[in-house]
Amino acid sequence: MVLTNQSLQSYNTFGIDVSAKYFSEIKSTDDFKALITEPGFEKEEKLILGGGSNILFTKNVDGLVIKNSLPGIKIIKEDPYHSWIKVAAGEPWHPFVLYCVERNLAGIENLSLIPGLVGAAPMQNIGAYGVEIKDTCEEVEAVNMATGEEEIFNNAACEFGYRESIFKHKLKGQFLITAVTFKLNKIFKPNIHYGDIKRTLEEMRVQEITIKAVSDAVITIRSSKLPDPKVIGNAGSFFKNPVVSRKLFNTLISKNPLMPNYPQKNGEVKIPAGWLIEQCGWKGKVVGNTGAHKSQSLVLVNYGHATGHEIYDLALQIRQSVKEKFDIDITTEVNIV
Ligand code: FAD
Ligand code: EPU
Repeated sequence: MVLTNQSLQSYNTFGIDVSAKYFSEIKSTDDFKALITEPGFEKEEKLILGGGSNILFTKNVDGLVIKNSLPGIKIIKEDPYHSWIKVAAGEPWHPFVLYCVERNLAGIENLSLIPGLVGAAPMQNIGAYGVEIKDTCEEVEAVNMATGEEEIFNNAACEFGYRESIFKHKLKGQFLITAVTFKLNKIFKPNIHYGDIKRTLEEMRVQEITIKAVSDAVITIRSSKLPDPKVIGNAGSFFKNPVVSRKLFNTLISKNPLMPNYPQKNGEVKIPAGWLIEQCGWKGKVVGNTGAHKSQSLVLVNYGHATGHEIYDLALQIRQSVKEKFDIDITTEVNIV
């Protein structure tokens, strides 16, 4: 069924009030193939929507929004050390993480509580607390939106990088991701060196570090830092953390000895954009209906009635002030429509 002039306000976590000229929910790959060949829709601009947690709408969509609701989780292969699980793109991410945690399958517990659907996870190679899905993603199944042909992308073909993949840029808007296969570990090697995980496990008085304990610790940290989109509209980190040359880093650290930093293997250094934005005075600042969140400046928020343009304008101002103060050009993580 195709709806017309459908409001998208409840379909994006910023809560931006825009509409789609056409809107259809798909529950199978066949639904999708039938939809894209239906007379009248072939030439319409098409936008795939998952949970809408990494998207900023700045205008109405003058085309067809396809809401992905493909269901199904299946263990497709096992050996003594691993389980391979194929997950349809419409499954919500966090419940899938819990599905693995309950079965003692390790690899994605550090990615607990990330909003959105499984199908969007490869788009920007979701990551948190020292883990990215590139570490466990075996392959991605997708359908070419122009031809309807099915293609399989193995891990290398996805060209994963920090908040990057082939689907986000080179093949942007060309494929519907229909399923992702993960290779999870039956042998658990905790990855708890990043951020506050160790300290939180201690505060939780955990006796034995289990997959569930790590997942619970990540949930505790995230709940204390990040605003819940059900309460206050946001899309997580609005910008990516910039990676700068060693030369620029040396200049910056000599002026700002307390600047947090993460050296990369190639000699460059990642600087938290949240810190840069806070240093420019934006933390907790309210600008009309928008602002940078009071406990995490990297998260731009909608205080109720913001338009996508207002949030985008705020992002431009923040970007400009970081450029002026630090000579660093921060780029957006969120997909702007
Ligand atoms: P959407 O926002 O619906 O879509 C995102 C993009 O992917 C759009 O361009 C869309 O067209 C495209 N797309 C979606 N599904 C498909 C598909 N099946 N096929 C092809 N294209 C598709 N991200 C992190 O990496 N780490 C974090 O720690 C993190 N924390 C967050 C915390 C909060 C509070 C919020 C609100 C967001 C956070 N995010 C984080 C961002 C976001 O949750 C992820 O990027 C998530 O994967 C987006 O999923 P979604 O289904 O909501 O995608
Ligand atoms: N910081 C500040 N001020 C701020 C925010 C952060 O000084 O306002 C400092 C913190 O004190 C800390 C450092 O910056 O020293 C890093 O902060 P944090 O641990 O909160 O992580 P982040 O770099 O801001 C990244 C991801 C998050 C992910 C967390 C945990 C990006 C763009 N963001 O945030 O991902 O959950 O690490 O791994 O890489 C997302 O992508 O939407 C997202 C939320």
